[in-house]
Amino acid sequence: MEYNTDKKVSDIGDNGAMSIKVGGKPIALVKYNGRVYALDGKCTHKEGPLGEGRVDNGRIVCPWHSGAFDITTGKAEKNTPWVTNIGTYKIRVEGATGEIFVEM
Ligand code: FES
Repeated sequence: MEYNTDKKVSDIGDNGAMSIKVGGKPIALVKYNGRVYALDGKCTHKEGPLGEGRVDNGRIVCPWHSGAFDITTGKAEKNTPWVTNIGTYKIRVEGATGEIFVEM
């Protein structure tokens, strides 16, 4: 099912992230090199808010204990073994408005 996030691509800073809820579920919207990705919003360590994390070289870094995940695949980085992989979700951007939709 596709959900309207009520966010636009321009709402997210370059190489930035934000926390939203989609269908009641916490999601991190991440903008990396001009493209938007949707990932699970809760870290697999102690549920840190990944949407408040730092975008660093293709990774989103948890703000609590620096667990890191590949933005495109959700794969936990090998050098932060206290976290496990997170889910990623397909998004669609409405061409004319830049509105972001997430498939869940
Ligand atoms: S809660 Fe994310 S690394 Fe600990």
